Amino acid sequence: MKWLVTGGAGFIGSNFVFYMLDKYPEDQIICLDKLTYAGNLETLEGVMENPGFTFVKGDIADREAVYALFEKERPDIVVNFAAESHVDRSVVDPGIFLQTNILGTGVLMDACRKYGIQRYHQVSTDEVYGDLPLDRPDLFFTEETPIHTSSPYSASKASADLLVQAYHRTFGLPVSISRCSNNYGPYHFPEKLIPLMIANALNDKPLPVYGTGENVRDWLYVTDHCAAIDLIVRKGRVGEVYNIGGHNERTNLQVVKTILKALDKPESLIRFVTDRPGHDMRYAIDPTKIHEELGWLPETPFDEGIQKTIRWYLNNKPWWEHIISGDYQNYYEKMYGNR
Ligand code: NAD
Ligand code: DAU
Repeated sequence: MKWLVTGGAGFIGSNFVFYMLDKYPEDQIICLDKLTYAGNLETLEGVMENPGFTFVKGDIADREAVYALFEKERPDIVVNFAAESHVDRSVVDPGIFLQTNILGTGVLMDACRKYGIQRYHQVSTDEVYGDLPLDRPDLFFTEETPIHTSSPYSASKASADLLVQAYHRTFGLPVSISRCSNNYGPYHFPEKLIPLMIANALNDKPLPVYGTGENVRDWLYVTDHCAAIDLIVRKGRVGEVYNIGGHNERTNLQVVKTILKALDKPESLIRFVTDRPGHDMRYAIDPTKIHEELGWLPETPFDEGIQKTIRWYLNNKPWWEHIISGDYQNYYEKMYGNR
């Protein structure tokens, strides 16, 4: 089986590459990644020499390059992780979110139609459902919850989902979509809440909590997300959406205090800062469909996963220090400059 994994130099995509190479050593994985600020080849260092793995630098929105790659490699399965993924950046500069997340998805699906594939899988997000009120803990996102987006990021992801469903209905493209809650774990870029707070706490820098810190996120350990995608692609029904999440709701303040406690740092490092515009209050996934249809259940409870993640950041300081210093962006030149 030949897989095209886009965005594989990012957080979840790289974890998916590791998961798949480990579980299916006979499969071939081609990773297409533009290496934006969020793409980091240092992350993939350990698999670059693996005969089952090929890295290709390129943009999913570059039609010519994508068609050429499909012509050459003829992938059986495409899993699209490539995206601009940070909500705060979408508030400052929405354009690139529309370009990559919507138009890039369109180009990939056109390539799938032209060259033929067994499955196109779109990695989407629970943010397409908007948010839930804090005073209704009985409410959860199901696959039937209406799309109701808040940020340019979530609007671009929802637009891509609609496009994917349209390509299924109009052209019969064999697609599936997964909508996952917040991930955490190794190789998470330190602009996102958990890695940012770990890095700042370790450097005794203030921990910026937006608004009151009461917003709730439903945290999922990244490997549980990877296992769910693998299952959906192999056994999930074509044309379907599957929500992924494991009932691990925490307020941001709870998460930040857990990190400080684990690192033995004082809560006086917490700084309440101006809220994110349009900030979603609560995300919470109902994973009944993926559990009942595919038997998926998360393996890592939050209290275990967060300690594992903190240990990973303690043991892999050079990885995130290179990001903070900007050094990681020279890695491609170092690796490929003279090739
Ligand atoms: P990330 O920002 O860490 O990684 C994105 C990767 O995509 C990077 O390697 C980047 O270089 C690459 N990329 C960006 N634009 C590209 C382009 N035009 N062409 C090719 N590559 C490009 O993101 P992530 O957190 O790993 O998220 C991966 C996917 O999962 C995204 O689609 C995101 O919407 C979705 N998702 C993320 C979460 C989460 O909690 N992080 C939860 C649910 C869904
Ligand atoms: O729910 C899935 C989504 O989760 C994904 O689709 C996105 O790609 C991913 O980035 C994530 O979005 P969030 O906006 O929830 O993640 P972020 O880590 O940016 O923020 C988590 C919460 O923490 C959110 O309520 C905002 C808050 N926050 C974040 C940062 C970076 C802070 O309070 N301070 C911060 O410095």
